[in-house]
Amino acid sequence: MKHPFYIEKPIFFDPATGLAECEAPPLERRYSNMKNMYLDETARLRLEQTGNDVIYRFYELGVPEKESDLAYGTSIVYPGKVGNEYHMTNGHFHTILDTAEIYYCLAGYGMMMMENPEGDIQYKEMHPGEAVYVPGRYAHRSINLSNTETLITFYVFRGDAGHDYGSIKEKGFRKIVVEKEGRWTVEDNPRWQS
Ligand SMILES: [Fe+2]
Repeated sequence: MKHPFYIEKPIFFDPATGLAECEAPPLERRYSNMKNMYLDETARLRLEQTGNDVIYRFYELGVPEKESDLAYGTSIVYPGKVGNEYHMTNGHFHTILDTAEIYYCLAGYGMMMMENPEGDIQYKEMHPGEAVYVPGRYAHRSINLSNTETLITFYVFRGDAGHDYGSIKEKGFRKIVVEKEGRWTVEDNPRWQS
């Protein structure tokens, strides 16, 4: 019996690049895909117009969206900043809100920013070898805190959890992470709307 590729044999995820040797190419998000996601929209637009590089890549392996399955892959956030705000993913809630996720850091230096609808905020630094548990009900976003290294994490979540990107696109996260005097600091997002 022929199984789907993600069952048929192990998938090699290169821990140095995060890229996988498999049939599914990673999805990518460039500056042009993140309009209004960063505080400094002028800086984002300038970066879009001068190269429009990839900010991050991640895998969608096509695992069935069933409660009994597990979706997994790597997330790869390249170093850089938009204005003084570190490169980050769009971030999302899960459509089935009360479903958790594990991120295991393979390389780089970053942060998992998390918040729930009631406004509780959790943020955890990520170093290679560390696992971050994102509890159910928490929106989550990966942020690359290094100016030179790529942040690579491996994630696993319930197959039917789904992604709700819309709430974050509309309101943003309550906190942003910016560089000040050479190190990261967490600040209130002045554009966050309740
Ligand atoms: Fe997630």
